[in-house]
Amino acid sequence: MRHFQWNQEHEVFISQLDAEHRGLFEAADTIERAIEAHAPASAVGEQLHVLAAQIEDHFAHEEWLMQSVSYPSYGWHRQQHDTARRRLKLFMPMVESGDTEATELFLEFLAGWLQDHTGVTDRMMASFVRNYERSHATNAFERWGTPLRTAAAAAGRGATGPYPTTIRDCRVCGTQTTHQMRPNGLTCVKCAERSVSADLDRD
Ligand SMILES: [Fe+2]
Repeated sequence: MRHFQWNQEHEVFISQLDAEHRGLFEAADTIERAIEAHAPASAVGEQLHVLAAQIEDHFAHEEWLMQSVSYPSYGWHRQQHDTARRRLKLFMPMVESGDTEATELFLEFLAGWLQDHTGVTDRMMASFVRNYERSHATNAFERWGTPLRTAAAAAGRGATGPYPTTIRDCRVCGTQTTHQMRPNGLTCVKCAERSVSADLDRD
């Protein structure tokens, strides 16, 4: 049985986060398939590193997004991310060493975690973000680069978020972009804004 199949029940109605969630499900599914095909531990370990990097990017995006709107349940949400981070760190060496039992346990944990987290915690957060953006007539792309309302920002250290600055091509129009809400640099500001408007129209 496949544990990692993204479907509409996982949607949080913020296009960027939905795309990232889908990517996590796909990366985890790749690992599950590799294990079923008895791929060597080194190959499974490599895929796990890919997944771990995607997870870390995604968590950083969500955490920036929550902080940028002063999300009241940020601490609770962050705790759930930290739990997944700790498990990943714990299981990574076991998976890399070819411990199939540990790998299965990890995938079971991840499947349950993704299901619960996207279905409840991320949906709550996304709903707050959408309401905030609607009532403040703002969007994540405008807020990017402004200091976060965090202790670090208050102390003058001006944290602006974790996004990379690599220039890539927008997948929709091909324009070069440094847009930061797309971890793979997939979409430029204009195309992203169009998709945000589409999200809001759906509400
Ligand atoms: Fe989350």
